[in-house]
Amino acid sequence: IGQQIHYKESVDSTQKVAHRLGMENALEGTVVIADEQIGGKGRMDRRWHSPKHTGIWMSVILRPQIPLSMAPQLTLLTAVAVAQAIVENTGLEPQIKWPNDLLVNGKKVTGILTELQAEADRINSVIIGIGINVNQAVTDFPEGLRAVATSLSIEKGELINRASLIQTIFLKLEKLYLLYLETGFHPIKLLWESYAISIGKTITARTLTGNITGKALGINDDGVLKIEDKNGVVHSIYSADIELG
Ligand code: BTN
Repeated sequence: IGQQIHYKESVDSTQKVAHRLGMENALEGTVVIADEQIGGKGRMDRRWHSPKHTGIWMSVILRPQIPLSMAPQLTLLTAVAVAQAIVENTGLEPQIKWPNDLLVNGKKVTGILTELQAEADRINSVIIGIGINVNQAVTDFPEGLRAVATSLSIEKGELINRASLIQTIFLKLEKLYLLYLETGFHPIKLLWESYAISIGKTITARTLTGNITGKALGINDDGVLKIEDKNGVVHSIYSADIELG
């Protein structure tokens, strides 16, 4: 991963560039990195604030031979890889909020957006977008985000070397990805749970069909979140926004 890097100073979204390269048969492990995104995309059609010089905005192209339904596991795998890299390079202790937000001291530092190119039930490529707030100061965040978002440097109290963090992410991602292809999701799930913030706590999942509040039991081997409501009914959550408490 990261053998082929396409670096751009400014792009609309690295996801879009990666989609194009994915269709053009780019090698697995090809990465698109930008210093700035004008139209950074978040999950659920939201925007992702991606200012110049401060963050890591990148998209990784993978071509796993797995069923479509297993693709969400790669999002969880990526969250673990980025968490490991942050620990190694900064000593900070990130926590994962299901499915893919990384928080430090309760505020979001990383978002992951996984998109698929598939034909029928066959994956052509998986485009994993990783956005990390690295060196922003508090005033670099729009006011509305300051209560919920932070950067690694704010939490650490010093600037962080972006190039070295990117390198560590490639190493961790490649190691976990190879482990995953060899042994399946189970070891990744255990690692994911060791970083997870919400297991055993009361959470509310806001889904398209309504809200579910209950105790987060963990994820199953597909990466699906299990919540037990107050009546003891266990719900499987495939896609939602999670609120703690
Ligand atoms: C989220 O909503 O939490 C996911 C945010 C993902 C942002 C990254 S930045 C690099 C890549 N390009 C994009 O446009 N989005 C992803």
